[in-house]
Amino acid sequence: MTDWHENDEFWQGFGGTMFDVAAWEDATEQVDQLETLLGIEPGVRVLDLCCGPGRHALEFARRGYRVTGVDRTERFLEEARRRAVKEKLDLDLAHSDMREFVDPEAFDVALNLFTSFGYFSDQDDDRRVVRNLFESLHSGGKLLMDMGGKEVIARTFEHKQWRERDGDFYLYERTIKDDWSWIENRWIRIELDERQEFTVGHRLYSAAELKRLLHDAGFVELVVFGGLDGRAYDTEASRLVIKGSKP
Ligand SMILES: C[S@@+](CC[C@H](N)C(=O)[O-])C[C@H]1O[C@@H](n2cnc3c(N)ncnc32)[C@H](O)[C@@H]1O
Repeated sequence: MTDWHENDEFWQGFGGTMFDVAAWEDATEQVDQLETLLGIEPGVRVLDLCCGPGRHALEFARRGYRVTGVDRTERFLEEARRRAVKEKLDLDLAHSDMREFVDPEAFDVALNLFTSFGYFSDQDDDRRVVRNLFESLHSGGKLLMDMGGKEVIARTFEHKQWRERDGDFYLYERTIKDDWSWIENRWIRIELDERQEFTVGHRLYSAAELKRLLHDAGFVELVVFGGLDGRAYDTEASRLVIKGSKP
């Protein structure tokens, strides 16, 4: 059976709610925050690994960064391409799997945002992705990853949730598995005459576990934040954000 993250029907069905108007609007402020957290300026070469439809990649390109967005979902890359053409932006896009994409020493900054990590049942694949990110940065380059951290999910855990968007209903049911190393989400989308259901699982990283993973891949100067606004990773944290550098 195809894994959920390799299923175009999943991204097609849930892309609309994942990247809704509010999510696109949030990206502008998030790029402000990323510029501050990373201390970067236009001209810098940015890799957005798992860029989706390009919320952040396009905003970086608008600001004059040299951006490469990488994703496995053709449909999202097409959307990013269409938007870039419309705005006459220079945006490099590559169709690739995060386990495969490496462009040695090509980037000053590598980003992996909005829980685009930990999808694979074999943790060696996560290690491979981190190695690819490391290799794609030049010496002194910076990495930033943003995801739902284990501590935040434990603190805010809701077993079931639902939301309505444009007349469609989205139902979410979460289950913690394998001693808190994995979260399984049942995502159901109900339209008038259609119902879609997917089981979406990913590895849960605590701050210390993620730090160790990046440290083992060679990253240094690792700092953890509780959000892209740079808040502490404490009881007020909303995300697990980690920044590091390649020596
Ligand atoms: C949660 S979305 C985040 C997208 C984007 N970073 C954002 O913040 O809008 C995760 C993205 O990862 C992509 N993806 C999933 N599995 C992948 C893989 N193995 N290699 C590359 N991209 C992948 C999906 O197509 C999707 O665009």
